[in-house]
Amino acid sequence: MEESTIIRFEHVTKQYDQDTPVLDHVSFEIEKGKFYTLLGPSGCGKTTILRLIAGFIEPSKGNILFNGKVINDVPANKRQVNTVFQDYALFPHLNVFENVAFGLRIKKMKSADITAKVKEALRFVNLEGYETREISEMSGGQRQRVAIARAIVNEPEVILLDEPLSALDLKLRTEMQYELRELQRRLGITFIFVTHDQEEALAMSDEIFVLNKGKIQQSGTPTDIYDEPINRFVADFIGESNIVAGKMVQDFEVEFTGQRFECVDQGLDANEPVEIVIRPEDLEITTAEQGKLQVRVDSQLFRGVHYEICCYDEAGNEWLVHSTKRATVGAEIGLYFEPEAIHVMRLGETEEEFDKRLEAYDEVSHAE
Ligand SMILES: Nc1ncnc2c1ncn2[C@@H]1O[C@H](COP(=O)(O)OP(=O)(O)O)[C@@H](O)[C@H]1O
Ligand SMILES: [Mg+2]
Repeated sequence: MEESTIIRFEHVTKQYDQDTPVLDHVSFEIEKGKFYTLLGPSGCGKTTILRLIAGFIEPSKGNILFNGKVINDVPANKRQVNTVFQDYALFPHLNVFENVAFGLRIKKMKSADITAKVKEALRFVNLEGYETREISEMSGGQRQRVAIARAIVNEPEVILLDEPLSALDLKLRTEMQYELRELQRRLGITFIFVTHDQEEALAMSDEIFVLNKGKIQQSGTPTDIYDEPINRFVADFIGESNIVAGKMVQDFEVEFTGQRFECVDQGLDANEPVEIVIRPEDLEITTAEQGKLQVRVDSQLFRGVHYEICCYDEAGNEWLVHSTKRATVGAEIGLYFEPEAIHVMRLGETEEEFDKRLEAYDEVSHAE
């Protein structure tokens, strides 16, 4: 294990009752000082992972390691972890200062030390001077900051944030995204942030784990995941995508919509069925003759920065295009794209299988 690893999940399975597991052999590593996001649809197991890290529940199978030691049955109050809950869970009858001081009072810290620490935590979240305010007098964004101050005042090694922005309106939410990210950088503490919002995950994270049905589908930097989605679920969940069925002809050549195209993918079987992803912003509108694909424009919306143009090819596949150029509804046009714009996905391949395939392929090519 790397020295920078702070948390490690080894084939962690969590099962309530005899039902299908809520988490199914989940393995990952969290490094110190980075901003991580668990991203996935409702019910995929995000909160369950946070609860396992916090120590509110134990794994059914597998191990959770913290700084190299198994902590499966270490109680929550003995872990160097603090949680910011979705509803903030602030105490309404205590003022801002006492909310933040709560954990330190329980630890029986000296009063002067508590005052110093609480003031510093409040300064960190830009709430200096709000000490005696009641929680009911604070706005949604300010409550959020109190909840964060209450977490950082304990100086944990990891802060867990369970969809903390989902209750805020869009403008405040965007502001808090910047603030949280900036705060994480200044503190240098590991943040594990949960959201079901893909744009939020892309904007904030050093690393994203995309989850579905209790399994990690893909992990990586925002650009890795956006540019190279590993399967249909990830491609569909992260950003808008055009996904069509195709066939790998040979290395660097793929077939879809009945035509063959140059691509940059290799290491798949000849004639293997695959799925093709092309992002809307990688499609360029041309005349029908200049395009690689011929389509008819079905509808068009102006989105401020670009037009969102919906087209259909002869086979009935939908092609979504983001273009600064305007199209004409009903017109026959061409779509042009570079070979790099085509992402080829093996059907139902997991990240683990993908990595193994690339490794095996590299070994063969190096041996030649
Ligand atoms: N205490 C529990 N008992 C039984 N099932 C639970 C319990 N807690 C969560 N689940 C189930 O586990 C699944 C994952 O839940 P959760 O981790 O809360 O998902 P998410 O946070 O991604 O929305 C859901 O299907 C949920 O109903
Ligand atoms: Mg949840």
